[in-house]
Amino acid sequence: MSDFQFLSTCTAETIRDAAAALKAGHLVAFPTETVYGLGADARNPIAVKRIYEVKGRPSDHPLIVHISSINQLEKWANEIPDYAIALATNFWPGPMTLIFKRTEIAADFITGGQETIGLRIPSDPLALALISEFEKISDSAIAAPSANRFGHVSPTMAQAVISELSDYLTKDDIILDGGKCIVGVESTIIDCTGERPRILRPGAITEEMIVAASGLQLEFELNRNDSSKIRFSGSLENHYSPLATVLLDQEPFPGQGFIALAEIPTPEGVIRLASPKNAEEFAHVLYASLRQADEKGLQKVVVSQPRENGIAIAIRDRLKRASNGR
Ligand code: TXA
Ligand code: MG
Repeated sequence: MSDFQFLSTCTAETIRDAAAALKAGHLVAFPTETVYGLGADARNPIAVKRIYEVKGRPSDHPLIVHISSINQLEKWANEIPDYAIALATNFWPGPMTLIFKRTEIAADFITGGQETIGLRIPSDPLALALISEFEKISDSAIAAPSANRFGHVSPTMAQAVISELSDYLTKDDIILDGGKCIVGVESTIIDCTGERPRILRPGAITEEMIVAASGLQLEFELNRNDSSKIRFSGSLENHYSPLATVLLDQEPFPGQGFIALAEIPTPEGVIRLASPKNAEEFAHVLYASLRQADEKGLQKVVVSQPRENGIAIAIRDRLKRASNGR
């Protein structure tokens, strides 16, 4: 077992300790309602550099900065359009990241040298408490990507953070255990630098919700003149991948893993990994089920994808990339 501190009872004191660790330049993995994040002081270049090392992530991929309230928005973001304020007031705290033009405190080492910054207020109470506590002692915020090695499946429970990152953490780093993430897939990322909102990564905040809250149709044109320069790691063709090969919407064979809605029966000899009742539950259990396939040493896992809109769009987005392999 490697060295890191594992805090499973999160009291006011453990939150203060974790905020102090961030202030001292250490890393703190913490739960959010989407997936676990690997946090560092967003204004400390050495601490942020360690995020990239621990994840094995290329340094030109930008990080999301997690803030505790809308009052912090203008500290990090410039040129905030009215529709973004509508989205923020409707869906924050929650599973949504907004992209804005950055202010000068959003340094190149956070944005990967891009002129934009991703911001999010998570709703998980532990995450919010940690961010607020850290803001109190630091005049900063928490930069946090998902707490997995680059390209792997995001962790939705503390044990998954340990299996991903324990080899890379040190005795001053902390993993906070807040149980299972409620949503289970990463936040919806919305580009707010244009005249209309544009979804860069689908999530639990759906197109319908964004249209209703903003009163605008979405921007879909992907080759808007700046978009070729936008780098976001979730946009890679292969990402979110377990070791097992992920096969989509096929008949599973005996010995293969199988993830499907509860109404779909398990063929003889197939290893059922999850039977969610609906798309929300599908998102909630998906990553843990893919990890289970690896823990069981399965070579192949067949996923029968949920068909509807809503969060099922995010599920199919992640599965498409997962199926491209590591
Ligand atoms: O749910 C989530 O968003 C989780 C939790 C921990 O908040 N975080 C997360 O972070 O998924 P990460 O780094 O694994 O994925 C964030 C994605 C990356 O693809 C990154 O490139 C993109 O957001 N991103 C961050 N800042 C961006 C920016 N300024 N412009 C475009 N994409 C950005
Ligand atoms: Mg990630």
